[in-house]
Formats: sequence, structure tokens, C-alpha cells
Amino acid sequence: MKKFPKDFVWGGATSSYQIEGAWNEDGKGPSIWDVFCMIPGKVANGDTGNIACDHYHRLEEDVALMKKLGLKAYRFSISWPRIIPAGRGKVNDKGLAFYSKLIDLLLENDIEPWVTLYHWDLPAALEFEMDGWLGEEISDAFAKYADVCFEAFGDRVKNWITINEAWVVAILGYGHGVFAPGKKSNDLPYLAGHNLLKAHGKAVDIYRKKYQKSQKGRIGITNNCDWREPLTNSQADKEAAERALEFFIAWFADPIYKGDYPESMKSRLGKRLPSFTNEEIALIKDSSDFFGLNHYTTMYAADSTGKIEEGSVYGNGGLSEDQDVNLSVDPNWKLTDMQWAIVPWGCQKLLEWLAARYDNPEIYITENGCAFDDILKDGKVEDADRIAFFEGYLTAVHAAIQNGVNMGGYFIWSLMDNFEWASGYDKKFGITYIEKETLNRIPKDSALWYAEVIRKGGFESKM
Ligand code: GAL
Repeated sequence: MKKFPKDFVWGGATSSYQIEGAWNEDGKGPSIWDVFCMIPGKVANGDTGNIACDHYHRLEEDVALMKKLGLKAYRFSISWPRIIPAGRGKVNDKGLAFYSKLIDLLLENDIEPWVTLYHWDLPAALEFEMDGWLGEEISDAFAKYADVCFEAFGDRVKNWITINEAWVVAILGYGHGVFAPGKKSNDLPYLAGHNLLKAHGKAVDIYRKKYQKSQKGRIGITNNCDWREPLTNSQADKEAAERALEFFIAWFADPIYKGDYPESMKSRLGKRLPSFTNEEIALIKDSSDFFGLNHYTTMYAADSTGKIEEGSVYGNGGLSEDQDVNLSVDPNWKLTDMQWAIVPWGCQKLLEWLAARYDNPEIYITENGCAFDDILKDGKVEDADRIAFFEGYLTAVHAAIQNGVNMGGYFIWSLMDNFEWASGYDKKFGITYIEKETLNRIPKDSALWYAEVIRKGGFESKM
């Protein structure tokens, strides 16, 4: 039996744009994802989040589902343009009322709310007015929005996450341009990343000064990282793998835990990487009460100094030219529907690497999961491959705990099938199946399995 610590937080996660729908109801303003979805060719099948899982109208049902599964915690995000439709200024009472009701329902059912303030649905107004995350004023606008949320919900919400995956916002939104706002550039990701860190720092400062003492909650950031394994034992490949991890998660975690960007980034990027003022670093250093981590896959990393190969994988590594890293996968690894390799040992290695680099912070895996082409048959979804995935990754988490990593909890991505960004609804990450026509919720076998894991605080492992 793989037993987990008694107070281990077992959760499920979603985000506002991916599940809520009601994109223009009750005073909500447009977000950059509402607009991005309107542009032909940006999202598979022309899918949009206009209706999504219709969670906005199915709150009670969804919380009842969580209760049935025995979730101890639910991680969701607040849509900034639902709270402040134009990004700045007037607050939308109906938006506040929606999240207030959700939080109350969760607490009535003994489910701890974990609230992300930014999961990519930036108010479109701020994209027009201040160039989104590239703008000098954006971090202050975010901090003001965060303040509104702390004030409205902080009496009941004790776990705050400022920003979800700054790496994705920067690289996919401003580098590869495949996510909103769709900009393509080699330089802009570093500016966007800088402003995301400033926004995080300013929001945390407000929370700590105005609210933390009386509300007694904690606040942190969630960053994402895959594992990078050296392709060979050569020193050059080992250094390449280290560099790849630094350009991935240390980009955002080093400023928070060490007070500056990693040396490898500074020396390689020169002026292209903004630098922090003393005042900024005072806000950013030590600004996370826990380490939020989203983790999905692993790749091999090889040194490519002077020879970036044609067709090398750029997608998971940031801007490869800046790193001189070639990424690859073992052809024998099983892939999910996202074509991401299933490599549980990579998860364990990453957790141990983070623990060593950042002095064993309390880590919460705030997302881990997989997409498969699930089929509904006779009212059931037999997703044995998803159960195997979770067994593998939870076994890795368990092993990391045995080795001294300070793990606080684990959130499944995702509670339900939802709008998977540029892939639309084709990619199904849920432990709950959403029937296309009716939007009925049908717990998959993996949901029933997860409920048992939570009930027992662990599982019998075949591994
Ligand atoms: C994360 C993201 C989620 C979800 C997941 C699966 O990067 O935070 O919103 O889409 O990936 O791709």
C-alpha cells in the first residue's frame, strides 16, 4: 500500500475559461481568449469557451460531484473580466456573487477552495490599452484586481495562487504565438515573464500587508515544468539538461527563492532579459508560501551548441536557440493524446531537483494529468490508461516523499473534460466525461478510482 501523509491535500483542478462558459453574461467583459477564439485557425474545429462545460449555470451539480468523489480541495480560477469587466475600474457585483456562491458551496461541503487569480483570461481591454503583459502598467492593474478578490473572498479562501504557469503565458502567448494573445517573437517572452513576476510580487505584497494577518491564509504561485533528462552521460548533455530546467522553471522560481534570474539565462540573453531593480526584487524574493508545480511530461536534453537541428522540438523547451538544447523522446515511451510521453520517474527526479535547488519548500502539485481519446459506452468510460497514468505518477510522488521531499498535496488535472486551449474540446483531460450534446457529467472509471485513493489515503500499487 502506498500510504500518503495524513494531512495530504487531495484535489482536483479546473480553470475559469476552460469550464465556465457564460462568456458574455451578467456583465462579464471579454477576455483575450474570447477574442483569440474568434480568429479563424487559432483553435481546433473553431471551438470556443462560449459555453464550455456550462459550469457557470451548473455550480450546485459540480460541487455535488466533487463531494461524491470525496475531494478535499478544489482548485479553480477567477475570471478577471468577470470581476472587473474592463480590466481596471468598475467592479461587477454579479461576478463577485458567482464566486462567492461557489466558495460557500465548497465550504458547506468541506472542500477547501484553492483559488488561482490568473489562469490566462486577461481582460481584452488591457490587451488593447496596455499591450497586455508587455505593458508597464499591467502589474499594478493585476495587483488592484487581486486586492478586490482578497477583500471579497479572503474571509473564506485560505489558499491563493497568483498566476498559473507564467512560462506558458510568456512562451506560448508571446514566443510561439499559439495561445492568446498570439504574438510571435524571440524577445517578448522575457519582457512578459518579467511583468508576470512583478505582478505576482505586487499582489503578494498587498495580501501580506493588508490581509494575511487577519485572514490567516497563504499565497503562492504555480509554475510548470517538465523533466529534462541528459541524453547521454557526457558533461555537455548534463549541462544542457540543467540549462533547459533553468530556462523553464528556474526562470520564475529563482527570482522568488534566490532573488535573481539564473546565471545561465543572464549570460546567454544579455540585455534581452530585463533586470530587476532592488525595489522589485524586495517584492519578489520570498514571495511564495508554498511551491505550486504543474507537471506533465519528460524529454531528453542534449547539448546543441552551434548546431540546432532542423525540426528539433521547440515547444516544451522555451526558445531553443537561446538554450542550445535539443529535445527528444525515447520512441519506446507511451504517449498520451497530446503526444506527451508518460514518464513517472521524470516526475520524481523533478521533485527531488526542486527540493535540492530551493531548500526543500513545501511543494503542491497543482496539476498533473493526461488526455486520452475516451469513449462513452453503455453509460461508462473505462479509462484504464488514465488510471495507470495516475498510479505511475502518484507512485513517483510517493517515492519522492520517502526521499525527503516536502509534498503538501496533489491536484488532478482535470476534474472534468474541458476546453483544452488551442486543441479545443478534442483533448480530454477529465476524470469526468462531459457528454457533447447534453453536457451531462459522467464520472469515468478514473474518477471512481481517485475517490477510493482519497478515501484510503493511498493505493495498492502494482509497481
Ligand atoms: C496546463 C494548463 C491547464 C491545462 C493543462 C493541460 O498547462 O494550466 O489549463 O490546459 O495544461 O494541457
